[in-house]
Amino acid sequence: SSSKLLIKGGTVVNAHEMEIADVYVEDGIIVAVRPNIKVGDDVTVLDAIGKFVMPGGIDPHTHLAMEFMGTETIDDFFSGQAAALAGGTTMHIDFVIPVNGSLTAGLESYEKKSRKSCMDYGFHMAITKWDEIVSHEMEIMVKEKGINSFKFFLAYKGSLMINDELLLQGFKKCKSLGALAMVHAENGDAVYEGQRRMKELGITGPEGHSLSRPPALEGEATARAIQLAAFVNTPLYVVHVMSIEAMEEISKARKSGLKVIGEPVVSGLVLNESWLWDPDFITAAKYVMSPPIRAAGHDRALQAALSMGILQLVGTDHCSFNSTQKALGIDDFRKIPNGVNGIEERMHVLWDTMVESGQISVTDYVRLTSAECARIFNIYPRKGAIRAGSDADIIILNPNSSFEISAKSHHSRSDTNVYEGWRGKGKVEVTISGGRIVWQNDELKVVPGSGKYIEMPPFSYLFNGIEKADAKYLSSLKAPVKRLRSAA
Ligand code: URP
Ligand code: ZN
Ligand code: ZN
Ligand code: ZN
Repeated sequence: SSSKLLIKGGTVVNAHEMEIADVYVEDGIIVAVRPNIKVGDDVTVLDAIGKFVMPGGIDPHTHLAMEFMGTETIDDFFSGQAAALAGGTTMHIDFVIPVNGSLTAGLESYEKKSRKSCMDYGFHMAITKWDEIVSHEMEIMVKEKGINSFKFFLAYKGSLMINDELLLQGFKKCKSLGALAMVHAENGDAVYEGQRRMKELGITGPEGHSLSRPPALEGEATARAIQLAAFVNTPLYVVHVMSIEAMEEISKARKSGLKVIGEPVVSGLVLNESWLWDPDFITAAKYVMSPPIRAAGHDRALQAALSMGILQLVGTDHCSFNSTQKALGIDDFRKIPNGVNGIEERMHVLWDTMVESGQISVTDYVRLTSAECARIFNIYPRKGAIRAGSDADIIILNPNSSFEISAKSHHSRSDTNVYEGWRGKGKVEVTISGGRIVWQNDELKVVPGSGKYIEMPPFSYLFNGIEKADAKYLSSLKAPVKRLRSAA
């Protein structure tokens, strides 16, 4: 028997328009979107009058079951995804970390970890070293494995960090494959120096995390990555934009016509660093992530940039640890596992902060939480849209209902939550994943193994016009030479 669903009378929202309509779903696919759809009584009907019917959220930036800083993130592909679904996110893109530099071994490990998935997911791949083997593996990832984005770390000296020479090789390879280069933009050498200063000053607590890696180091690395991507003429995606300094570099680049995408994360948009000075170690340590959550003011500036289109989509960098894991750094902030939660909270916190406050429209919300991510990673309109033919990943949000966030009631395995106590308006009442109702009446009905791996093809719209620009650049180099020769 096939599963049939009718969502009746809601306001259907896409990235650029909304209308009151019914949505009819069969076997995991949206079949029709129009008013007054008539169906038989074998169809489950959901009343959405007065509510918003939107594409499920797509989180472009998560770390589930990641081995990192001497431990492993507390949420795996089941608990992290279950949490996501309870918060209205129906797809995420996770970062595969290579094993001893091997992309193939890294992917195998993540294929294993993701077998218990209960929602759709895709992969980015981190590049942590460079040689002929890695270069060839990148081709395989793009041409055979459905990965179209690679993250380069300019920080985490001694583990993930790569230098500018390798970064350029990686950028060139991305360009030749039609894959999107992503950067973690902090100057890792300067961070190392900053940490040495903290040691000299005897600062070992969580506040040292922020003091050792100020916004200038993020601004410098962002500018450098942008200039080097422009030198290669390939698009660039800056992950977790946390500061005004980084945001302004992105703004400048975009104004000059460069294809640069800026991804703020929820923690950077709504939190500030004051927690890091809390006398209780765990309270402070749970806010440690990199780049750091900044001083008050950066959060509001990032919100403004998001509302003005300077930044294009919102992720979470969900990388959750419990308090026992955070306690690894009790004597030394450098050993606190870096990362905060967000996969379950993103849709709610963003609605409350940006839509409820009037900073963005409901259609903007869909663009920033879902559609733009699908477009950038080249899976639109299969994902990121409510329209006939798209996957039935759908949420029903009630703008008049309220939500409250607490570690006591969240679905993550962590015992802490950086949004603890947050109350707001706009609640995801129903989540539909692959045509099945997985979240309703505050209850999850998730099935391990039901999530599908979504292959992401290379060459998104970001690559339009790049060949032309290259040809123009080449002829501009040759023209003066020709002129000089013919004059001689
Ligand atoms: O602190 C963070 N951001 N942890 C996750 C790894 C990364 O850099 O994205
Ligand atoms: Zn090859
Ligand atoms: Zn990062
Ligand atoms: Zn991350």
